[in-house]
Amino acid sequence: MEKRKDAYYRKARKHGYGSRAAYKLIDIDRKFPILFSGMRVLEIGSSPGGWTDVIMERNPEKLLCVDLTAPKGGELPVNIRGDIRNEATWERIRELSGDGFDLYLSDAMSHTTGQHDRDHAMSVEICTAVMEHCDPLLLMDGTVVVKQFQGDMTKEFIDRYKGNFKKVYITKPASSRSESSEIYIIFSRYRLASQ
Ligand SMILES: C[S@@+](CC[C@H](N)C(=O)[O-])C[C@H]1O[C@@H](n2cnc3c(N)ncnc32)[C@H](O)[C@@H]1O
Repeated sequence: MEKRKDAYYRKARKHGYGSRAAYKLIDIDRKFPILFSGMRVLEIGSSPGGWTDVIMERNPEKLLCVDLTAPKGGELPVNIRGDIRNEATWERIRELSGDGFDLYLSDAMSHTTGQHDRDHAMSVEICTAVMEHCDPLLLMDGTVVVKQFQGDMTKEFIDRYKGNFKKVYITKPASSRSESSEIYIIFSRYRLASQ
């Protein structure tokens, strides 16, 4: 187990990725191609920046990164420091959203407590904040990927939003620790775009 963890960590360092989490996004993208050149991406829970590095390699037209901690600055990515559960953060995202987004990615999660029910509830709260703000920023046929610590509210969460998309997939990347209940839910091809 530790050997596998170290392998991803070393690989990320060697490649210059901000974190080993980069390989989770690479794995998701390999299975369900979601990253394309010229796309407009909203990345939530972006620090320390492994996913950001992977997205930047695909030459996005726009990348807006949001995190509780201050991410690295720059013109691209544009960074917002804020809590995704707060309306003020979404106000700022709306101001910077331009024509909208083709892809929302959320790897956000505060420090896990080790208490499964609590971690699950916290992750559902973050995922819900993301899903509740698809309209009006997510474009037609857009995709949302959210990390969730799986639990008894997961099915209800998926059922609540799946009708807004053409397909829903669940995946657990190889680099995700097997003892973790972490999964990634991919809501693909948004149907309700209002712009
Ligand atoms: C697992 S890390 C993300 C790793 C990142 N994807 C990478 O590749 O380096 C989770 C991040 O989510 C952020 N986060 C947690 N809760 C948040 C919230 N409510 N709003 C915004 N960001 C949040 C944390 O500050 C942390 O940086």
